[in-house]
Amino acid sequence: MAVTRTFSIIKPDATRRNLTGAVTKMLEEAGLRVVASKRIQMSEDQAKKFYEVHAERPFYGELVDFMTSGPVVVQVLEGEDAVKRNRDVMGATNPADAEDGTIRKTYAESIEANSVHGSDSDENAANEIDFFFSKDEIVG
Ligand code: CDP
Ligand code: MG
Repeated sequence: MAVTRTFSIIKPDATRRNLTGAVTKMLEEAGLRVVASKRIQMSEDQAKKFYEVHAERPFYGELVDFMTSGPVVVQVLEGEDAVKRNRDVMGATNPADAEDGTIRKTYAESIEANSVHGSDSDENAANEIDFFFSKDEIVG
């Protein structure tokens, strides 16, 4: 299995509850290494662009409001099969459907305030990493 990278966001519901370390610990225990990390306040423009793929979905406006409601921690994660590894430890989008031991089952408040984002493909991971990080901010 190849070592690859994925992109993660610790969402405002988690930073508000001071869960940055707790979430990161679960990522690390799942075999992922944080090779870049920064705490930012996402602008409305950034959130709109980042979630552009969902622009036609009914939850888009609220999602943009939520993602800009407080600080987030954007991260680049590295590990074997990183995209899938991260999606597995994140759990299902809706915490009610997430398996025990996943981040969303453990910490998410709702289907919207679900504590973490994770890329869903290698191609999207590369694009999302580029969206938030310059090359010299990533140290593997
Ligand atoms: O984050 P994930 O890839 O699991 O789910 P998504 O389908 O790509 O949706 C992106 C984000 O939109 C979710 O993580 C939720 O924060 C939000 N969402 C929502 O508020 N209501 C829904 N019915 C579905 C998603
Ligand atoms: Mg998604």
